[in-house]
Amino acid sequence: MRKKIVAGNWKMNLGFDEGQKLTSEIVNMLKDEQHSDVTAILNPPFVHLYPVKKLIGDTPNLFLGAQNCSDKASGAYTGEIAASMLASFGASFVILGHSERREYFKESNELLTEKTKQALANGLTPIFCCGEPLDIREAETHEEYVKNQLTESLFGFSAEEISKLVIAYEPIWAIGTGKTASSDQAQEMHAALRGHFASKYGQEVADNLSILYGGSCNPGNAKDIFSKPDVDGGLIGGASLKSRDFVDIIKSF
Ligand code: G3P
Repeated sequence: MRKKIVAGNWKMNLGFDEGQKLTSEIVNMLKDEQHSDVTAILNPPFVHLYPVKKLIGDTPNLFLGAQNCSDKASGAYTGEIAASMLASFGASFVILGHSERREYFKESNELLTEKTKQALANGLTPIFCCGEPLDIREAETHEEYVKNQLTESLFGFSAEEISKLVIAYEPIWAIGTGKTASSDQAQEMHAALRGHFASKYGQEVADNLSILYGGSCNPGNAKDIFSKPDVDGGLIGGASLKSRDFVDIIKSF
């Protein structure tokens, strides 16, 4: 049975005190409120990893993740953060291939293959992002575009390795815009991507992959989106910076 997952991507937000306040609020809400068997993940900027992990403590079903890692194992790479370092600070997950890193930092599918290798080699679960820009959606070539992202980055891995991934489909035109994909649009793409994995790795591997939706997901639309058979949760940006909203999204299943 594939996992239900809600991951909060804080992006480049929050100083120390704000991060501690948000984390404490989320921890207390999750301890006090029933939220079924959803895996919740906090993905703060690197500087928050240690203090956020300390606050997470032994909170059930709440995990620490990062927003990126190096494609290198260690060494003279100023400013980089190795996957092994993330694991040593208690991270269990790492977001890779977010559209903002592909756009602003020119991350290629080939580079993301190497980053995925580093994450897997260090026991981290990659939350591997994919998604199309607006012009591709308007041209109605979005399915081919996103499938190609996955083929080029991931289809060199074994079925065992693929089984360790989480996939996040984030239509770029829905990120930060308030223009959420409809639940039918999300279901259509999630089913297509699951079918793409099935064609390469078999139905059992594909059926066990958690595929998350990201792009203006909020407490008002999460229940509808998460109700779809091939949507296994969400990768949440703006709404993850508000404790009540983030926990309400976790409770939306
Ligand atoms: O990684 C999640 C993010 O890209 C979605 O952002 O603010 O539209 O929820 P947002």
